[in-house]
Amino acid sequence: MSDIPLSTDPRVLVDFRTADDAGVYVWEGGPALVQTVDFFTPIVDDPYTYGRIAAANALSDVYAMGGEPRTALAIAAFPKDTLDPADIAAIFRGGYDTLREAGTALLGGHTVADPEIKFGYAVTGAVDPDRILTNAGARPGDLLLLTKPIGTGIIGTAIKKGQAPAEAVEAAIRSMTTLNKAAAAAMRGFTGVHACTDVTGFGLIGHSTEVAVGSDVTVQIDSQSVPLLPEVLALAASNRSGGMTSNRLYFGDRTKIAPAATEELRLALFDPQTSGGLLIAVAADQADELVRAMREAGVVATAIGRVLPAEDARVVVR
Ligand code: CO
Ligand code: CO
Ligand code: CO
Repeated sequence: MSDIPLSTDPRVLVDFRTADDAGVYVWEGGPALVQTVDFFTPIVDDPYTYGRIAAANALSDVYAMGGEPRTALAIAAFPKDTLDPADIAAIFRGGYDTLREAGTALLGGHTVADPEIKFGYAVTGAVDPDRILTNAGARPGDLLLLTKPIGTGIIGTAIKKGQAPAEAVEAAIRSMTTLNKAAAAAMRGFTGVHACTDVTGFGLIGHSTEVAVGSDVTVQIDSQSVPLLPEVLALAASNRSGGMTSNRLYFGDRTKIAPAATEELRLALFDPQTSGGLLIAVAADQADELVRAMREAGVVATAIGRVLPAEDARVVVR
């Protein structure tokens, strides 16, 4: 979208210029609107689970921005003759159940015929215009928290090849179907939360780069602290995805990785995530309390690094 002129409308508070995945539009006399859209091809075999993941993933950017999702429109593409109508119904049902869990109303949607299945939602939420969280705002000294383990791309590729152990599949599905709702709610009470994004297609390093660029800082990741889904390192080398390779090409130049880091670990750090966790920059003196508040809300948040003053590398992996 870099060729599209930037908006000069003062009601647009956040748009694509900060590489955030949702935009914010202020609505006279009330909360601001936060809007986002996400849809993708199936990453698991079960249609109901695919629908749940698609919904959790589409809602996530509203939570990442500090908002609450209110309404959703389905976006669907299905092959005309080869897909069982019961499977289509199951996809919609899974999505609907997850929207309900989020307290989000499904208003409608649009379906087209396409040889490749695609499904997701456009989501609209509300956000306090004074409490919007973006990639910008992280400050040197902040700690970085991550609320879900990494590795859904590697496990998803292994599922397609029939190589994924059941334990890894179960853990990945549990993670991808978990809303970022509880994490976002826990975060809301903390004035020390300076920046937030969700970790999705660009992987942990890519989204960390976006925080670093947006905030004009450098992000340091302690690789040994990064939570991983089961078997991710064992599966990494034989389950590289195209997205992982392009993330590495695109973000690798601005990333400095300690020579001791194994190839498997590097692959995991560049692995594109689906419905990943929140990556939060929080003032160091509020980090413990935020981790505790998240734990009480059933969210396992892990401190994975810190924010440094800007240096040449945008992301430093120790
Ligand atoms: Co996002
Ligand atoms: Co998104
Ligand atoms: Co229509």
